[in-house]
Amino acid sequence: MKEQKITENIKVKNNDLEILKNNFSHCFDKSWDFDFDKFKKELSQNEINFSKESYSMDWLWKSYARLLATDNATTSLQEDKEWNNKNKNSQNLLLKWDNLEVLKHLSNAYREQVKMIYIDPPYNTWSDGFVYQDDRKFSVSEFRTLAWVSEEKAKSILNFVDSKSNSHSAWLTFMYPRLYIAKQLLKDDWVIFISIDDNEVAQLRLLMDEIFWEENFVASIIWKRKRWRDNSAKWFSKSHEYILVFSKNKDMLSTNFLELDNNTKKAYKNPDNDIRWIYRMLAVWARWTQSGVKYDFTNKEWKYFWERLWLFSKNNLTKMDNENKLLFKWDNIYRKLFITENKWKIPETIWDNTSNSANASDEIKVLFKNIIFDTAKPIPYILEILKISTQKNDLILDFFAGSGTTGDAVMQLNAEDWGERKYILVQIPEKIDEKKSRVAYDFVKDELWVEVPTIFDITKERLVRAGEKIRKENLEKSENLDLGFKIFETVDVIVPEFEEDEFSENIKMFDENNLSEQDLKNILVTWKTYDWIPLTKDLEEIELGWYTWYYLNNKLYLVDKWFKTKHLTKLLNEIDENKIFNPNIIIAFWYNFESKILRELSENIQKYPNKKGSEENIDFISRY
Ligand SMILES: C[S@@+](CC[C@H](N)C(=O)[O-])C[C@H]1O[C@@H](n2cnc3c(N)ncnc32)[C@H](O)[C@@H]1O
Repeated sequence: MKEQKITENIKVKNNDLEILKNNFSHCFDKSWDFDFDKFKKELSQNEINFSKESYSMDWLWKSYARLLATDNATTSLQEDKEWNNKNKNSQNLLLKWDNLEVLKHLSNAYREQVKMIYIDPPYNTWSDGFVYQDDRKFSVSEFRTLAWVSEEKAKSILNFVDSKSNSHSAWLTFMYPRLYIAKQLLKDDWVIFISIDDNEVAQLRLLMDEIFWEENFVASIIWKRKRWRDNSAKWFSKSHEYILVFSKNKDMLSTNFLELDNNTKKAYKNPDNDIRWIYRMLAVWARWTQSGVKYDFTNKEWKYFWERLWLFSKNNLTKMDNENKLLFKWDNIYRKLFITENKWKIPETIWDNTSNSANASDEIKVLFKNIIFDTAKPIPYILEILKISTQKNDLILDFFAGSGTTGDAVMQLNAEDWGERKYILVQIPEKIDEKKSRVAYDFVKDELWVEVPTIFDITKERLVRAGEKIRKENLEKSENLDLGFKIFETVDVIVPEFEEDEFSENIKMFDENNLSEQDLKNILVTWKTYDWIPLTKDLEEIELGWYTWYYLNNKLYLVDKWFKTKHLTKLLNEIDENKIFNPNIIIAFWYNFESKILRELSENIQKYPNKKGSEENIDFISRY
């Protein structure tokens, strides 16, 4: 019988270690500790020289960041059942609490499922209030063993964690584990877009080079975020930010072309009613000239001359003429470029008319009458990213959701092109400061009736209102549009307290109130996600002889109390008789099973000759 702890395995694999294990397993000892000297020797036999000098990014506390990336989740997942029942068919998700924990939970069920990740993390500008904090409470000795550092270093790192720092190192420590896991969620052939400004762009670029690798850098986009120059600025009016684009594997990457925007389309006209439709008149020679002086022997004088440089070869010009695409006008020659020949454009790296921050505030105002969130990105900006990077069925992730613009834009694009893109948003319930953000605070408190107003309440309400607006604007399509979303949140893991009866190991004596029905439901949601079942899929509840089991995708969960031998008989019967019931793994919740019945279950399931003739064994796991 295999044994697993409730959340011990909900963690992300250390990819580097996995590669080493797969290729150099002989450099590991029995307990899978890596023997670096052996590895070094092996490589030097293969004539690889170790140079002491290398190029890499380092910061204080990097070892802590690396540990956070692959350390266990410390929470379980809870469903908002009431809300989700009202949104039964929705495939969109809004997840509450710290994105690091959430990403760890998503790391199996959504591994390589996400086509595009967009994030807009805190920029660490002072004014955005970024300070490093986390809930991990390692002891010095625990941390030393996990991160392989000296006692002194362990102490200094753990002091930093408590110090509420906003240094570059603190910001990198925050970003590293999140990006590390994000990469594993991405499909091989796509991409991550990250908004950032001057404060951390240099750090982020190097960090991404390390996690995604330098050769997977795709673009650094400049976005003009301010429409007007600020003449009160000290040296320069700062009007731009960046979007860094990295792919998971650039060899597999292909971007979409974009449709011409409406402004460009306006330049296409059809003054002579050409049956080939609207066109632009473009010069066939460059505007600039080649000039010089020549001596005119007839008139005996120096003369200036100039000539135009043709943009096309003679052959091409003749071809255009034959196709009736040249226009001779005002002593000049133009070529007709029809819109049908030039419908698409490759995205550029300067975005100077993709809306600006003021437009984003206007969009919030349309939905809420007030600007209740002031660092939102405008919808056309996210739409541009979606159009470049997604197809109609793709899954999109934004784990710094803020006001939820990404969800809004996904729904809008689906309405525009009949798409079925789905989104996953993550937002921490960051408290809204009553003094600094009075309007937002009052709105959430008075209109949404929330006792302690948080940004999460704004995210949720924005998605609801945006969905409603899109429904009203697209009545003819709205039945086919997914305008809802499901909600899940991370909650603390309850570790049940119990004593095993000394005289009879069969009986676990629980404190009856220790594990509630809700706790059991949370364990089920957490485990199914760990076992690769998406959050939007519900487990089937099967009731047999007063005992409920939970089943989906060939996985069977037994978590309720009072499982008896008669249930085991029924279970084995069901496996035999029921053609559509084929568990290949059975997972029992150790705390709720008497040891005797657990052993019986394990032995019977593993030995049971499967009458359906399946060759495959059924795995049995007892999780605690
Ligand atoms: C700049 S805002 C994103 C704005 C968003 N792009 C929009 O258009 O509304 C960043 C958001 O990330 C959230 N955030 C910060 N740390 C987080 C964490 N650890 N987990 C989840 N969300 C977090 C903040 O509360 C904030 O709302």
